[in-house]
Amino acid sequence: MRKQKDTSSDGGEKIEQARLLVLHGPNLNLLGTREPRYYGSTTLAEINRALVQRAEGGGVVLETFQSNHEGALIERVHAAREQNIRYMIINPAAYTHTSIALRDAVAGSGIAFVEVHLSNIHARESFRHQSYFSDLAIGVVCGLGSEGYLLALEYLLRRIATE
Ligand code: DQA
Repeated sequence: MRKQKDTSSDGGEKIEQARLLVLHGPNLNLLGTREPRYYGSTTLAEINRALVQRAEGGGVVLETFQSNHEGALIERVHAAREQNIRYMIINPAAYTHTSIALRDAVAGSGIAFVEVHLSNIHARESFRHQSYFSDLAIGVVCGLGSEGYLLALEYLLRRIATE
């Protein structure tokens, strides 16, 4: 596995673990009780815990961030660039269909990402069929519920392992 290499002061090589960021958009803090027919009954805390545990097992550091505010999500993406985040998993929630500003932040970060949606946005209202993120994403997982996040993570762990 190619981890990020750094040269420490004693001249030896320090191996830095790859870092991932999972970004959750508005209303996803309500998972578990919010429209369970679309989003299931798993809470955001449960999803995040499973992701952090799986990432640890894969030797990767994973952070999660949820906000109901567009600006906060944009600023988190800006910070990710400074933090040397290798990949992101993003569920932009309703901002998927509206936010050119968040799209621009993600594009500007240069950080490759997988887009995730719990529900199948293509089987729902037509305004959900358009995503401002899909053409930038490595790939999109949608309609597989909370498992979609874990599948996206499995893909990224495998990808990191072969880099
Ligand atoms: C969602 C789908 C969006 O259309 C919706 O606004 C969400 C969640 C999903 O995960 O299925 O909030 O991104």
